[in-house]
Amino acid sequence: MKSEITVWIFELDRTAADLTEFNSWLSTDEAQRRVRLLRKQDRDRFTAAHGITRHVLSKTTGERPETLAFIRNPHGKPSLKGHRHLEFNLSHSDGVGALAVANGFPVGVDLERIVPIEPAVAELALSSSEYAELSHCGEHEAPTHFYRCWTRKEAMIKALGLGLAQPPEICDVTPDFGREPRLLRPASESDMSVIWELFHFIPAAGYVGALAAYGRGHSMVLNRWTPSAI
Ligand SMILES: CC(C)(COP(=O)(O)OP(=O)(O)OC[C@H]1O[C@@H](n2cnc3c(N)ncnc32)[C@H](O)[C@@H]1OP(=O)(O)O)[C@@H](O)C(=O)NCCC(=O)NCCS
Repeated sequence: MKSEITVWIFELDRTAADLTEFNSWLSTDEAQRRVRLLRKQDRDRFTAAHGITRHVLSKTTGERPETLAFIRNPHGKPSLKGHRHLEFNLSHSDGVGALAVANGFPVGVDLERIVPIEPAVAELALSSSEYAELSHCGEHEAPTHFYRCWTRKEAMIKALGLGLAQPPEICDVTPDFGREPRLLRPASESDMSVIWELFHFIPAAGYVGALAAYGRGHSMVLNRWTPSAI
């Protein structure tokens, strides 16, 4: 069955009024994580990411943003208590965030700001065949190419609810814009029969994003979050 996945994109630098409201919604656990961040900008962006997540999930479930209760799997993937079928996943990088929301099948989202990347780091992060393709890129295109691969792999890992401690060989993905984002090799031998779909998006200039979803025939709808857009 074809299902829609909504990806909400948002700026993390919000007004003082937004932040005051979002802070009032945070759980004790979120507030404790927030105060551990050293820089004010990071604390404010954490508040924005979690506040906007609560806003979207509140509109989706009809519950108040401050009463939503999250539980986490052993690797930290959050889900919503009392809403087993509602699947969502958050990603944030610098000043931009994305929240994917789906009904009844797991999703993972990742976005990254494109910054220069050391070849040694790329070699550690990518599978051998992904790295081989990267080494054919010019110096100028290499960071974008790397982050397309990296976000697709991370979206897969996040959809599966695993942690970053996964070996880069866990899957191979298509790295370029020309071809549809695709999983070339499944995420694990035990997942051979499982079908995953990948989507590519550009959340903002200088960023790349990827969405992974369990199943086939889904469509991705990209929306810019504003307090009244949902
Ligand atoms: C999840 C993970 C892959 C995200 O990587 P990242 O690029 O740094 O961060 P992103 O911005 O894309 O995503 C972070 C969000 O994903 C969600 N998330 C956390 N763990 C997740 C997981 N295992 N799978 C999917 N999503 C996860 C959370 O909403 C998190 O937001 P928060 O940190 O503000 O609460 C990475 O943090 C990781 O490997 N975590 C696992 C650590 C672990 O195994 N811990 C075990 C004890 S909890």
